[in-house]
Amino acid sequence: MERMRGMTQEVLLGRSGSEAALVQEIDELRKERKAVILAHYYQPPEIQQIADFVGDSLQLAQQAAQTAAEVIVVCGVHFMAESAALLCPDRVVLIPELNAGCPMADMVEPALLRATKEKMPGALVVCYINSSAAVKAESDICCTSANAVQVVASLPPEKPLLFIPDKNLGHWVQSKTGRKMLFWEGYCPVHHDLSAAEVRIAKEQYPKAKVLVHPECRPEVIALADEVFSTAGIIRYVGKTSAQSFIIGTEEGILYQLNKQYPERKFYLASPVLRCHNMKMIDLIKLRNTLQTLSPRVLVPENIAVAANRSLNRMLALGSF
Ligand code: 13P
Ligand code: SF4
Repeated sequence: MERMRGMTQEVLLGRSGSEAALVQEIDELRKERKAVILAHYYQPPEIQQIADFVGDSLQLAQQAAQTAAEVIVVCGVHFMAESAALLCPDRVVLIPELNAGCPMADMVEPALLRATKEKMPGALVVCYINSSAAVKAESDICCTSANAVQVVASLPPEKPLLFIPDKNLGHWVQSKTGRKMLFWEGYCPVHHDLSAAEVRIAKEQYPKAKVLVHPECRPEVIALADEVFSTAGIIRYVGKTSAQSFIIGTEEGILYQLNKQYPERKFYLASPVLRCHNMKMIDLIKLRNTLQTLSPRVLVPENIAVAANRSLNRMLALGSF
């Protein structure tokens, strides 16, 4: 996570005329609106550059929960803006592209979740933050990829668990905690697309490289990895290890941060298809327009917000790991 406010002359000189003008406009609007710009690590480089904070899903929720800004612009996908809106009901929460959704979040229908819960009386529902507010409202506690192991470990051992929507993250958490769980049939199409064969090829090509993957990857991909982390965890790990080269099994947007923070290390994407199109829907023009018009705004209906907030806040109360 980092702070990047105030575009210097040096940064401006490195951009094309129109991009520099846009950056300046965004900077002025941000001050005028008393806004904070939060961006996920999968966002395009120009958005990560201009953001006040860049982080993983957990860090973005934590930032939203503690910011004093009047306007919060979330550069990410819809559930991230919705989480910010839940945590800051008295602020204006904006997303520069309303259609930037998460296909995995769409894999759970609240009605089907309700019907499934009826068949599992007494079970607790652990809900990955990549889900709609309506689904969070039907759940007992949220988790992110950074804290899923600790969230599950915190739950009473005698309770049956249903983990939604990411079966891959669920399998990984089960392998780390030894806790048996039922999984929803959901997955991230981007991470699920990465095959074990592709990772094996990358390992043959770069035998000295450490393999770092996101827990949204398939179990057989995780089995080939040296380490499994959230996006922020991958970035932190590179800073702590003496290894010089890495095969990265997560969305390509992270390469911008890795190359920026560790320019002397080598990073190889495990597959060229690790690209989330939803994460790439936001650009500088849409960000400028959002700050100008204070729209599109993300609002959560009161009846959903109360229960969804309970799940989110139970997670945040467990703290950082
Ligand atoms: P995090 O590492 O932020 O949990 O990212 C997962 C993801 O896919 C966000 O959409
Ligand atoms: Fe959803 Fe996967 Fe894109 Fe993240 S990378 S927003 S989980 S589709």
